[in-house]
Amino acid sequence: MNDNIFVTGAAGQLGRLVIKHLLARGVTPSRIVAGTRSPDKLADLAAAGIEVCSADFEDLRGLTEAFNGAGTVLIISTDALDGTDTRLKQHRNAVAAAVAADVKRLAYTSLPNPDSSLLTFAPDHLGTEQAIKATGLPYVIFRNGWYQENLLRALPNALKSGQWHSAAEGGRTSYVGREDIAEAIAAALATSTLESRTYTLTGSETLSTEEIARLASQATGKPLSVVHVTDGQLATGLKAAGISEIFVSVLVSVEVEARAGNLSIVTDHVASLLGRAPRRLADYFMQEKSAFGA
Ligand SMILES: NC(=O)c1ccc[n+]([C@@H]2O[C@H](COP(=O)([O-])OP(=O)(O)OC[C@H]3O[C@@H](n4cnc5c(N)ncnc54)[C@H](OP(=O)(O)O)[C@@H]3O)[C@@H](O)[C@H]2O)c1
Repeated sequence: MNDNIFVTGAAGQLGRLVIKHLLARGVTPSRIVAGTRSPDKLADLAAAGIEVCSADFEDLRGLTEAFNGAGTVLIISTDALDGTDTRLKQHRNAVAAAVAADVKRLAYTSLPNPDSSLLTFAPDHLGTEQAIKATGLPYVIFRNGWYQENLLRALPNALKSGQWHSAAEGGRTSYVGREDIAEAIAAALATSTLESRTYTLTGSETLSTEEIARLASQATGKPLSVVHVTDGQLATGLKAAGISEIFVSVLVSVEVEARAGNLSIVTDHVASLLGRAPRRLADYFMQEKSAFGA
């Protein structure tokens, strides 16, 4: 089959890292296409011999032209969380464009168990997985666990105040580093098999909110206690901090998801793709302790 790999969202953090790891795994620049809404941001990749092109999921025609000649298209899920079905429509456009362009394999960044997830945005992922499967094309679905880097949103402020407000109760989460996910995706895509696969890319351990607080505290030298609150109290606090209504719903649903135990899935898929264990949260905190206020 045509073994080009077209990476959408190439100017995003995950997209850039996937390309970095495709190159590190020996995929030649001529086999990679970097698609983005902002080609000007990828001059470094163009200089390295990678074809950079415009790819916006809102533009079905342009996208179909861009995908023309691609072997595999990696559809990186977008960040269009506006409380409507905008994101699902974007992803369906990407799938339709890939079919129209006669690509050979589809890949997609989803989330664990989208059919039973309580996250507000889970229907986007379920709907996209269904659209991909309905094409009949070979696919690779990467159900990405919760990034360790998401903790940069709440923890630096919590460490400043010494209190972390959480509605997760005893819920445990298997955080995984964004770069480990990117490397696992690159490892899977570097193979040219046409066998459809679904990977669930998680960390190797689950941690409660208290255990996470203890690790953050050890890394930064700052005390941190967990204050258990209800979903309503959490929402009120987030709104008071100036967070938009839609994003408050997203963040509260993350706590609901954790409480239900849905973020505590652990698989060995990252380790088997990388040939090493994924980075542990304790190591992430130590590596990035200054970002957390140490
Ligand atoms: N598992 C987790 O914990 C977690 C956390 C945060 C986000 N995510 C999801 O994973 C994705 C990648 O994560 P990230 O860290 O790389 O996020 P990011 O840096 O915020 O990147 C956002 C991505 O969305 C793409 N995008 C936005 N609008 C688009 C459009 N109209 N057409 C095509 N692409 C569009 C961007 O592509 P260009 O700018 O290159 O056009 C970029 O790749 C996110 O977009 C989100 O769906 C997962």
